[in-house]
Amino acid sequence: MNVLLIGSGGREHALAWKLAQSTLLDELYIAPGNPGTIRHGRNVDVDVKDHLALRQLIIDKRIGMVVVGPEAPLVDGLHDRIAADPQLKGVTVIGPTAAGARLEGSKEFAKEFMLRHNIPTAPFRAFGRDELKEAIAFLAHAEAPYVIKADGLAQGKGVVIAKDRNEAEGTLKDMLGGNALGQASDRVLIERHLTGPEVSAFLITDGEAFKMLPSAKDYKRIGDGDTGPNTGGMGAISPVPFADKEFMDKVHDRVALPTIRGLQNEGIHYQGFLYMGLMNVGGDPYVIEYNVRLGDPEAQAILPRLRSDLMDLFEGIATNTLSERHVDVDDRSSATVVLASDGYPGKYESGKPIVGLEMVQGALAFQSGTALENGRLVTKGGRVLAVTAFGKDLEHAILHAYANAALIDYEGKTHRTDIGHDLLRNPAGKVAVAAAPKTGVK
Ligand code: AMP
Ligand code: GLY
Repeated sequence: MNVLLIGSGGREHALAWKLAQSTLLDELYIAPGNPGTIRHGRNVDVDVKDHLALRQLIIDKRIGMVVVGPEAPLVDGLHDRIAADPQLKGVTVIGPTAAGARLEGSKEFAKEFMLRHNIPTAPFRAFGRDELKEAIAFLAHAEAPYVIKADGLAQGKGVVIAKDRNEAEGTLKDMLGGNALGQASDRVLIERHLTGPEVSAFLITDGEAFKMLPSAKDYKRIGDGDTGPNTGGMGAISPVPFADKEFMDKVHDRVALPTIRGLQNEGIHYQGFLYMGLMNVGGDPYVIEYNVRLGDPEAQAILPRLRSDLMDLFEGIATNTLSERHVDVDDRSSATVVLASDGYPGKYESGKPIVGLEMVQGALAFQSGTALENGRLVTKGGRVLAVTAFGKDLEHAILHAYANAALIDYEGKTHRTDIGHDLLRNPAGKVAVAAAPKTGVK
């Protein structure tokens, strides 16, 4: 089968690397891809937002399956357009319809969905642009810290944890009264603040059956010790020590199963990956957010641990036979360290030559913010590379990932030096024993 993979980041490099190992794959095309994906398929310079060009590409290259890396094309209805097009009959999309993608595209929709299906999440209230006064008044009934979220996609900038009422009021005014986040903050949620270590759980589904994939923890802040501004993710580890069998069984029973059954019952066809961002509150999973895709850099940490043929799982989706397929996972741990450009997530320079990639051994270097300039690999983005290594345990995986990350160099190279260290010191997660929250939104 010919496959078209959509996206250009490290997650897509990991997907391309994994798909290329399959005997079920004929040709792999990546739109637009990056210099790393060239080794696993053919990059095609097509703007994913150009619906006609994408359609023509699917026809010309006799694509049988479209694998969507990022969320935006899904929220934008790519799956629906392909399914409705008679000329694209039989093309499978790995990724949900726009209705399913609302789980990520609208936080209010996701929250209401969880309420309807009894899926544990923090209590919340939602407010529209004409309800700024009511939102501010509501703060009097909540307790600090205040969790304020823009409803729509805001590229990681949509959540503010305000420590006091002043800051919360300012945030509400910015979001509901101002235009900093555009349409994303047409509606805003105030939710109860939860405490506990975070873990990301993943599943793959054909809409009926689902299979859990390895868990991961990502490190969102730019600085060591979880300091500084949020980024797309500076590293990840898998599996997560405190997400043991008992906890993951709860995730399966209380979150994954009711989510898939809930989607079915509401007539929302959902196929592809589902990312469950969770908090472990006193041993119980609470959903912080859903994403309708794999994470980046979580994909770079979990896909290398997947022993099963990913194309076989995707064919299980295409033929509604996922229940008959197997997810086989490597017991070893993996650690992923993201190498960024100095200044990220603020301003940074690009075009810096990258050296040392060929020295990486027994580890994987997934590219994201890179470009080829006159045949030379240079930086072209905030997050440049993600280096993933295995170890018999987390400690060895981390050591191995950092040893390989040290072999790569470019001007302005920067990275966190403590990916996974919190879990080495404290495998149970620091606040794993925190009691269920009593304060905040009632
Ligand atoms: P989100 O984009 O919804 O995943 O939120 C981004 C980050 O904000 C999460 O990874 C959490 O660290 C934090 N966060 C979100 N919701 C809550 C909550 N109810 N309580 C505490 N922290 C939260
Ligand atoms: N690393 C977080 C995300 O992909 O959403």
